[in-house]
Amino acid sequence: MSDTSLPSALLAALSELLGPSGLLTEAGDTDPFCTDWRMLYHGRCAAVLRPANTEECAKAVALCAEYGVPMVPQGGNTSMVGGATPDESGKAVVISTNRMTRVHAIDHADLTMTVEAGVTLKAAQDAAAAEGLMLPLSISSEGSAEIGGILATNAGGNNTVRYGNARELALGLEAVLPDGQVLNLMRRLRKDNTGYALRQLLIGSEGTLGIITTAIIQLQPAPRSRETALCALADPQGVLNLFAAFRKQDPAAIQAFEYMSGTSMALVNSLIEGASLPLSEPAPAYALVELGSPRADDSLRTLMEEVLGQALEDGLVTDAVLAESEGQRQALWMIREEHAEAQKRAGASVKNDVSVPLSAIPEFITKATAACEALIPGIRVAPFGHIGDGNIHFNLVQPEGMDPKAFLAQDHAMMDTVANIVRTLDGSFSAEHGVGQLKTYMMPSWRGGAELDAMRKIKAALDPKTLMNPGKIFP
Ligand code: FAD
Ligand code: MLT
Ligand code: ZN
Repeated sequence: MSDTSLPSALLAALSELLGPSGLLTEAGDTDPFCTDWRMLYHGRCAAVLRPANTEECAKAVALCAEYGVPMVPQGGNTSMVGGATPDESGKAVVISTNRMTRVHAIDHADLTMTVEAGVTLKAAQDAAAAEGLMLPLSISSEGSAEIGGILATNAGGNNTVRYGNARELALGLEAVLPDGQVLNLMRRLRKDNTGYALRQLLIGSEGTLGIITTAIIQLQPAPRSRETALCALADPQGVLNLFAAFRKQDPAAIQAFEYMSGTSMALVNSLIEGASLPLSEPAPAYALVELGSPRADDSLRTLMEEVLGQALEDGLVTDAVLAESEGQRQALWMIREEHAEAQKRAGASVKNDVSVPLSAIPEFITKATAACEALIPGIRVAPFGHIGDGNIHFNLVQPEGMDPKAFLAQDHAMMDTVANIVRTLDGSFSAEHGVGQLKTYMMPSWRGGAELDAMRKIKAALDPKTLMNPGKIFP
């Protein structure tokens, strides 16, 4: 029996277009598409549409537009800001890309990959690696997050410090607009100044302007040498000083430079099975450093040992461990990648994905910690993140024993407290996760005036009926 509220004529047309595996209407099948990874948002939908290619996607969107049905694009459903969750009305359909899973081509001369939106980031990375190349974007959710979602959110992650965000990696794009037209921007050109850069408009639009269906991604030669180290330090200023020391020697070698606070590391060690700190004792701050090079010599090992040797001698780094094998490297990365999961297991948490200029990070962390501890006594302030990009996940975990609902009831007070400090330091309240539905309320005070007005006009021009991912980005 079908649980959908869609008009029967539309349902029949979608059923004929998409077939049984492309159309889900029973609550038992659609429920997983209506809740987010953080379990913060629980919506409902009239159906889940799973087109197998661009043509099916375009026809499905045109049908929904004709009947005035709201559409929520969804990839791997790993959004941290509720971006892919429908509202509670049950009127929208979720349009999932998870049947669009073909890697069309890898070009060694152009160093590009042409890939459908539903390919997971991990599958795309593996396809590049199988050809001796590298897709230089890495996030902890890469096993589930899909290329379309990655581009729609302009994801960042661990390698942004060297290769940029998703935006910098997309040379070409194809998308279905809210009326069902296919926008073909599949050009793989480094230089192409021909009017507005519509590709860049779609990237980071969080599903509000259309559905990304295919992309051309810039690849890199695979690194043939890599050095990875976990370092213990006294505080975030020390972590920044270490970053500056590596940058001074060879900025192009830094592939990742991640920060973890003592509090967030302790949560990983206590809540993630198999995780243990490979250092003699816990520290207030940690840096995970990865250097990479397409050269196969030992120059990176020399660089790592020289910089860390000096930092140990100066007392900047108090302890450090270098990965001696790929297994040890992965074990070090596992500690970093499990931070989000550990915080999820620790109870309710409030995420502040913010960025500030590098020089302001220590002041930001000191002030925001004091302000949050004053707001909620016993709160566990557990920051970590991509410090080389100035991007801190200033995450707040509920006090032990507190009712999670009572903690979450104060989420705006916590987010505003942190954001107000970010503002005084010329930062952004939304660094890499996007606005989604979590942060829409902040938009007027952060992106008001002409900026928000221009965004609304673009939205109205492309989606006059507000059918594409309503309730996201815009208040
Ligand atoms: P979804 O969650 O499905 O959707 C995200 C948004 O994009 C929604 O607004 C949706 O409507 C829209 N969308 C999805 N697919 C399309 C499409 N084809 N066309 C148009 N719009 C679309 N993010 C980072 O940037 N850096 C990190 O380091 C990072 N680490 C994470 C770690 C964990 C453990 C988790 C759970 C998440 C993390 N994230 C991180 C957040 C998330 O993984 C990224 O935002 C990712 O890019 C979302 O991809 P997705 O396919 O899951 O998108
Ligand atoms: C990460 O970098 O692990 C995620 O983006 C951060 C988070 O969980 O807040
Ligand atoms: Zn992150």
